[in-house]
Amino acid sequence: MVCLGNICRSPLAEGIMRHLVLEQGLNWEIASAGTGNWHVGEAPDARSIAIARKYGYDISRQCARHFNHSMFNMYDHILVMDRSNLRDVLALAKTEGERKKVRLFLEADAEVRDPWYDNALFEPVMLEIEARCRQWIEIFKNQI
Ligand code: 4NP
Repeated sequence: MVCLGNICRSPLAEGIMRHLVLEQGLNWEIASAGTGNWHVGEAPDARSIAIARKYGYDISRQCARHFNHSMFNMYDHILVMDRSNLRDVLALAKTEGERKKVRLFLEADAEVRDPWYDNALFEPVMLEIEARCRQWIEIFKNQI
């Protein structure tokens, strides 16, 4: 799960996905990172932690990381929150195989809005991420 800062959107996607995956007894590895490095080492934004907690997810112990090329080898799928993340991640890909791992998190070219400057966005963004995580689990289960 990749966004810009790795403190608002992708930590929600990581924590919710991990929670739902564990609930189903699947042992998939879930992680997140940001294309920017400003927040490396920080916990998720307090607003993301709070809205996740409201819906029963604990993302408080996650720690922001900077997306780097080694992650293409570590993960089978790289889901990005918006088109600028897509551009930045694809710019680091070296092979067609690496490029093929990268997809927008939402369907139909839609972007997960960045809630950083708008407190009111955290709840709709969190619910959108939760719904799409459930869909991704079905998509990936059908591929195994
Ligand atoms: P995120 O949100 O990409 O969903 O983690 C942001 C977090 C921090 C900044 C921008 C977006 N920032 O400019 O520091």
